[in-house]
Amino acid sequence: MSPNLDELLSAAQADIAAAADARALDALRVDLLGKKGRVTEMLKSLGGMVPDERKVFGEQVNRVRDALNAALDARGNTLAGVALQARLASETIDVTLPGRGIGVGGLHPITRTIQRISGLFNELGFETVEGPEIEDDFHNFQALNIPESHPARAMQDTFYLKDGARLLRTHTSPVQIRTMLARKAPIRIICPGRVYRVDYDRTHSPMFHQIEGLYIAEKVSLADLKYDITTFLSRFFERDVEALFRPSYFPFVEPGADVHIKWEDPEKGTRWLEVMGCGMVHPNVLKAVGIDPEQFSGYAFGMGVERMAMLRYGVSDLRDFFTNDLRFLAQFQ
Ligand code: PHE
Repeated sequence: MSPNLDELLSAAQADIAAAADARALDALRVDLLGKKGRVTEMLKSLGGMVPDERKVFGEQVNRVRDALNAALDARGNTLAGVALQARLASETIDVTLPGRGIGVGGLHPITRTIQRISGLFNELGFETVEGPEIEDDFHNFQALNIPESHPARAMQDTFYLKDGARLLRTHTSPVQIRTMLARKAPIRIICPGRVYRVDYDRTHSPMFHQIEGLYIAEKVSLADLKYDITTFLSRFFERDVEALFRPSYFPFVEPGADVHIKWEDPEKGTRWLEVMGCGMVHPNVLKAVGIDPEQFSGYAFGMGVERMAMLRYGVSDLRDFFTNDLRFLAQFQ
């Protein structure tokens, strides 16, 4: 090999072996074998040589190029190995640490309460049914013995849709009407769902949940109502609940009552808390849905789910259920 080439090869091999990192190595590759690299230029010069000269020199340059490529690759591999070792040394993982765990979702306390209440009534023979949240005047008011301009409408102010005919239901009682129109007596249903009213404070939210109950059969009496409600309340609170049925007015029942339960409040002492409205289904309601009030009678009740959840879990502000603070919600899992 020509002394010049020999020198170039050994000098370049020394440089390559000494390259400190991938960038230095790349600079050497460009300088030697890049488009205008020193070895590349030599290969280009072959074209201007006489055949004999070209054959001898060409072979030598090609060998130098191959040797350089091999040296560059070898040094590249070494440097990559060094870099990997450095990363392994610096990015240590302590495999003995406990895992981070995957957050597990859960049911909202209102959903749990609805399931609990529905489940207890299912055990008493009630079937769960649902109805629409957007109602019309007939189902929400008229068929429930609340004619237009009846003062009882003021008790349940709601949100009306722009067409004036539809509204957000103010209670789950319209599901009574829908079910009685669709089925024949006897009927025993429970209807959970969202309802809407113009209210907002610690114990009222413009959207809240109710559970409606309806039992229509021959000879259903106030005694059935009292027994079923009291049984339910004791099972729900898991103790003997003392319940008071205080006469109250709802246009769709007669007689009607508010149910209060005796509550020992650690701060306020013994109190009677209202948990639901109930009563014997008014004959006008039965007539409105084509059920003969001489043959059938029934009772109905409606309770606020948030109120039941607040009492069971000891929550003092109803709005906590709807602000979706996970620190609050996670306590119920
Ligand atoms: N619908 C009544 C309310 O929302 C509750 C109720 C239901 C009362 C059934 C009596 C019978 O206030």
